Amino acid sequence: MPTDILITGASSGIGRSLAEELVKQGHRVWGIARRNDLLESLKNQLGDKKFFYTAGNILDRETLIEAKNTMEQIGFKPAVFILGAATFESDLEPNFQIEIFKKTIDTNLIGPISTIEAFLPVCLTNKQGHFILLSSIASFRPNRKGIAYPASKAAASLALRGFNLHYRSQGLLFTNIYLGPVATSMWEGKKSFLVANPKFIAKAISRRIDSRRQSIYLPFFSTFLARISLLLPDKLYAIISGLFK
Ligand SMILES: NC(=O)c1ccc[n+]([C@@H]2O[C@H](COP(=O)([O-])OP(=O)(O)OC[C@H]3O[C@@H](n4cnc5c(N)ncnc54)[C@H](OP(=O)(O)O)[C@@H]3O)[C@@H](O)[C@H]2O)c1
Repeated sequence: MPTDILITGASSGIGRSLAEELVKQGHRVWGIARRNDLLESLKNQLGDKKFFYTAGNILDRETLIEAKNTMEQIGFKPAVFILGAATFESDLEPNFQIEIFKKTIDTNLIGPISTIEAFLPVCLTNKQGHFILLSSIASFRPNRKGIAYPASKAAASLALRGFNLHYRSQGLLFTNIYLGPVATSMWEGKKSFLVANPKFIAKAISRRIDSRRQSIYLPFFSTFLARISLLLPDKLYAIISGLFK
């Protein structure tokens, strides 16, 4: 059934591929991201009856309020919310940098939670709303690239589970999609068979927007390896995973 879908982080990478895929399937998509030029080019590509956007920072309340108000004005009623906006920047170069840590926690944790908070009242009134966080296998354990990214993703995923616990009985759903490596600008490692193509991942996510599961792992193989590797101590895992990066 055609659905109205909000995607934060729609300007590039997985969010952009997902917008393309969902519009192709007949849904209407509303994107939020900061880079206006990229959102405008996506609108030109997908058509102004199928793709809408608000250019802004999800950490600015005005961006979310503006998106919500403009949606109401044109009768766009989001039922699915893809929480994809995030940042990855090493906070360990050359030494630990608290400012990058804070920025990462703000974007990757406070960002999705602020988005949920902005749309929660209308979802509770309508007794429907599916919030899907693009989480990461990085949330399972620390890695050598940075301190903040795994911590931010772990905290955001746990928060989604908390929302699920409290609001599921009121008709709302909260899903964590734990992604393995995907070849976008965020992925800085080597391209190997374990690194998925964003279009492939977008298709796989699009097939799960009606899923009632709390946790989804995509793609199967890399996330399966990550899950069984939880049997290993952090140090040994860091050495083995370094061979693929
Ligand atoms: N690539 C991977 O290997 C991988 C693996 C696991 C999970 N993930 C997750 O998948 C999601 C998408 O990542 P990606 O790989 O597609 O990276 P990406 O291409 O860098 O996309 C990140 C998106 O977030 C937006 N964004 C960042 N900060 C924002 C802010 N403050 N306000 C609004 N929008 C903001 C960016 O747009 P603007 O710069 O235009 O604002 C961009 O559209 C992320 O949540 C990431 O953690 C990725």
